Amino acid sequence: MQVIISSDPQSVADRASLFIKRKLEKNPQLILGLSTGSTPLKLYQKLINLYKKQLMSFKTTTTFNLDEYIGLASDHPQSYHYFMKENFFKHIDINLTNTYIPQCNQKQNPFLIAETYEENIKQCGGIDLQILGIGRNGHIGFNEPSSSLSSKTRIKTLTKETIADNSRFFKQGEFQPIQAITMGMQTILAAKMIILLATGKHKAEAVQKAVEGPVSASCPASLLQFHQHTVFLIDEDASSQLKNKSYYYHVDDLTQKIENLYRLSDI
Ligand code: F6R
Repeated sequence: MQVIISSDPQSVADRASLFIKRKLEKNPQLILGLSTGSTPLKLYQKLINLYKKQLMSFKTTTTFNLDEYIGLASDHPQSYHYFMKENFFKHIDINLTNTYIPQCNQKQNPFLIAETYEENIKQCGGIDLQILGIGRNGHIGFNEPSSSLSSKTRIKTLTKETIADNSRFFKQGEFQPIQAITMGMQTILAAKMIILLATGKHKAEAVQKAVEGPVSASCPASLLQFHQHTVFLIDEDASSQLKNKSYYYHVDDLTQKIENLYRLSDI
């Protein structure tokens, strides 16, 4: 596990875009796991800019989103389908048939939908790089505290805290979903590489527990400590409760030096 602390949300997005760019350069058929919410917005904007400058293409990329609310149509402005279209997909050259977002309305069989989603990921060969955000309660995707390590894509009931946190996106009196379909912990942990983005003081406690706390289903993000190749890419504010900050800076510094050395010697 690597912890990279950048000065502010924009530098977090810049650094994350660099990881994606390098992965795409190596493998244009990249299978990319995506997240919604406020945190990745700057990253999507950065990727769009790189695409517009012809420095990146998503033509042969496949994407899998982490989650979607139950009870919102895909054209609802608060649905994650709508979010992805408006904030990313419609601005780049991705083939929309290669963009997967789970969707389950109240009339559909959630077990079948979840199984098909898992199957789709498997058919594509698994997720190469998964982008995550983190909830204040330590959730990743909508795996709320108490989510099992071996969980796969399924319906989850949202906690009061998550509903309250996300109420900022809904108008007063508007229907706000209380359940979601989400990739499970096992689905996420099966990704070859994971980048968790966190910015802002309100994420500092969750980040500290996830990185330095005991591994516990009470903080689902702490289960990432089991993953071989996870990077916590966070800003100063989100890092404010970490106890071993100087060590993380030191490791990042050395890692970058080694990477630059190898990259130069590659030329
Ligand atoms: C969204 C998702 C959630 C968010 C988390 C943080 O697809 O899976 O886990 O990443 O709730 O949301 P923001 O970024 O809005 O603070």
